Amino acid sequence: MAFKHQVLATHAFPKEWLRPLADYCEVNFLEGHPQEQAGKLLEQAEGILTLLSDKVDASFLARAPRLRVVSNVAVGVDNVDLAECTRRAIPVGSTPTVLTEATADLSMALLLSVARRLPEAAQDARSGRWVGWSATGWLGKDLQGAALGIVGFGQIGQAVARRAYGFGMRLLYADPRPHPEMEAQLQAKRVLLDDLLSESDFVSLHVPLTEETRGLMDTSHFARMKTGAILINTARGAIVNTEALLTALEQGHLGGAGLDVTDPEPLPVGHPLFGLPNCLILPHIGSAAAGARRRMMELACENVLAGLENRPLEHCANPEVYRNPRAKTHHRVT
Ligand code: DGY
Repeated sequence: MAFKHQVLATHAFPKEWLRPLADYCEVNFLEGHPQEQAGKLLEQAEGILTLLSDKVDASFLARAPRLRVVSNVAVGVDNVDLAECTRRAIPVGSTPTVLTEATADLSMALLLSVARRLPEAAQDARSGRWVGWSATGWLGKDLQGAALGIVGFGQIGQAVARRAYGFGMRLLYADPRPHPEMEAQLQAKRVLLDDLLSESDFVSLHVPLTEETRGLMDTSHFARMKTGAILINTARGAIVNTEALLTALEQGHLGGAGLDVTDPEPLPVGHPLFGLPNCLILPHIGSAAAGARRRMMELACENVLAGLENRPLEHCANPEVYRNPRAKTHHRVT
């Protein structure tokens, strides 16, 4: 039998999603294995496919001494200890680009739903509270002419801007880098975060979760936002201080929130945020469009193969690993 690399997937992905690996790798699933067996699989693994909900930290990595590549099936890699992977000469793959449009679609879906109060209206229709056409009922916010502040103007932030421009929204963005082409194309204006918060009718978050962005949206930043403004978060839950958001909504300072991500995730059943009619919470489905997920898996499999064949990963979250001489020879790091 031909030699095959040992690959572990933390999640039991459908077999057809792993087809690109079939000829070269034996793929085992961590999910569903008792602890002892799971430990053995980790010990043998040369490559691993992980989800954004897996914590790939030093203690996890210590249990996988043969690991040569981590392939995270996500654009965000905040669940992976990149420094520790680099120290161990392990490149970390991610799946940017292929989920940009799907995530931007979902951001707009949340924005439209909260702006036009769709969950409340749908519930009223379903429950019989809708007794006839109303001139004054279910009034929402206009998008035309409203200011959308985009925090983080990377690929997803820009894709949201393109969509919002089509709805006639005015665009502000806060980003460490200027994007003159997008400014010209979409009449977007780069501003400081504080100004973005105080001038926007809608604020949409598109920064990665890092030590700098953790808890970014706190009490003082909510206080800067316009009364009645709406917050959209499809990035990472921990960018928002959940308690501060709850208070801002309960006090009526914010007009609503659309959250695809929360902190913690999932948010416990019965959490007070679920009780607010102007807060729409989804179970982290930004990239959950069939085509986007298929392309994410293709890219994640390609990252595994590249790592196992000592080729540079197409999308590597810790490119500095290639300056680590151990990356070439894959010495064991204990
Ligand atoms: C990612 O890939 O990081 C997204 O959050 C998935 O929806």
